[in-house]
Amino acid sequence: MDLKIACIPGDGIGPEIVAEAKKVLNAVADQYGHTMHYTDILMGGASIDVHGVPLTDEAVETAKNADAVLMGSIGGDTTTSPWYKLPPNLRPEAGLLGIRKALNLFANLRPAVLYSELRGACPLKEEISAAGFDMLIMRELTGGLYFGERRTTEENGVRKAVDTLVYDENEIRRIAIKGFDIAMKRRKKVTSVDKANVLDSSRLWRSVVEEVAKDYPEVTLEHMLVDNCAMQLVKDPAQFDVILTENMFGDILSDEASMVTGSIGMLASASLNDTKFGLYEPSHGSAPDIAGQDIANPIATVLSAAMMLRYSFDLDKEADAIEDAVRQVLKEGYRTGDIMSEGCIRTGCSQMGDLLAERIR
Ligand code: IPM
Ligand code: MG
Repeated sequence: MDLKIACIPGDGIGPEIVAEAKKVLNAVADQYGHTMHYTDILMGGASIDVHGVPLTDEAVETAKNADAVLMGSIGGDTTTSPWYKLPPNLRPEAGLLGIRKALNLFANLRPAVLYSELRGACPLKEEISAAGFDMLIMRELTGGLYFGERRTTEENGVRKAVDTLVYDENEIRRIAIKGFDIAMKRRKKVTSVDKANVLDSSRLWRSVVEEVAKDYPEVTLEHMLVDNCAMQLVKDPAQFDVILTENMFGDILSDEASMVTGSIGMLASASLNDTKFGLYEPSHGSAPDIAGQDIANPIATVLSAAMMLRYSFDLDKEADAIEDAVRQVLKEGYRTGDIMSEGCIRTGCSQMGDLLAERIR
């Protein structure tokens, strides 16, 4: 199979981790008889430095012409980087929000799994971590507060800022369907998270989710208020299968869920539209403080590449091979600095990529 993949190395550790993911994909290509065609795209700070904007129309076109996009990370240190002296719509993050919108990537899948080999890294009490957990946060990605109208004004010397949170029922329905579809392939439970005790947008969310649920009689649906969900994630994470939620709640809860795994460097994500096309990126950020030192953990990006093979190319066997390689390497005791523990073998970013590629070949 010919796979047309657009790569966005991005900023910080992005270029290093994407290079390792390519190494692993190339091993898959050799082993299973595929051909990878990569095209690089500039986005975020890397694009600002060259084009003055975080995302160009040409970059969006290149992405559209590919079958899938593999991304590293974008952004820099918000206090020291000159990118953050620019107006908000020209900063690195605007590139990411822009490409999500331009490609209509409304469904963001963020799995948070506690690997048994890394149980020691889980910051929760042992009696909680012993149960393990394996959840998937289905975050709405192109609506809500991050895309509503916003402005900052000054009235009679008083500065005032407004953001708006808008959802229509169609936006809610399509993400709910994605959530229930994926629950059918998992443990058949959906926890829909909202703030229906206060927000109209949440009350609409809840009623549309209930309508969609009628088409999935095998799936258990429960509703949970977002503040309670934040507590439950640290109290009893094993209760969750699919968490279905709007953009901002999903942004915050997915960071919390990843922290609870104790290994944010291991967590992949997929952002999908209505077709097979998707953008795949690690759940973590660009870690500018460790960029260029060959110490970053490339596994989240490698696992994002596995999600890409699975969701955009239907190459389940190949995706399994990558996920098995990750488990194998962990079992053998190899660890990057972020997940290092006593008695393990410390490896750098590129060595981790080599090890994973070797296990696939
Ligand atoms: C994420 C990030 C982005 C978001 C930022 C960088 C705009 O936090 O992917 O979760 O909030 O969507
Ligand atoms: Mg976030």
